[in-house]
Amino acid sequence: MSILNESRARTLFIGAVCFAAVALVGAGWTNWSAEAREKPKHDALSEKMRLKLSASSKVLEGLTTEDADLIREGATAMAEQSQAEFWQVFTDPDYREFTVEFRGSMRRLKEAAAKENFDAAALEWMDATKGCLDCHKHVRRMRAKLNQ
Ligand code: HEC
Repeated sequence: MSILNESRARTLFIGAVCFAAVALVGAGWTNWSAEAREKPKHDALSEKMRLKLSASSKVLEGLTTEDADLIREGATAMAEQSQAEFWQVFTDPDYREFTVEFRGSMRRLKEAAAKENFDAAALEWMDATKGCLDCHKHVRRMRAKLNQ
């Protein structure tokens, strides 16, 4: 009985975390779309940046189905993207800091997945998602400054 309760609580917990993650990304996306309207939509940078979306859904799928390989695959892809040249569009210290934090999150996400610690992975993913939004907010601020 107690095992059943524990696993139910765990499912509820992961469900809540995933719901919050989707809501956060959704909120960010809405802001972003408004911004994107003012510039060409599918330039080369956009396409590369959008690779993060498919990697993120892998992570989310991995968390919802407790598939450690999927989590690792998504996190590895995003860690590699963050090392690529296209990622370094900005080089100011804050942008670099966001990038370093993001890479740290991807590393911890992979570690949690390797240990099949799905609760830790879910929390790490929340943190990383917040990182997506914070960096984007910073990028919008930088762009606004550059366009002044
Ligand atoms: C360190 C900063 C940083 C982090 C962290 C980051 N991004 Fe981005 N992202 C960018 C930059 C820079 C752009 C391009 C902005 C521009 O061209 O104005 C971008 C663009 C995008 C775009 C829009 C592409 C288009 O259509 O133009 C999406 C979607 C996106 N990122 C998703 C994500 C997701 C999901 C995460 C987290 C898993 C994430 N990003 C984390 C910096 C970041």
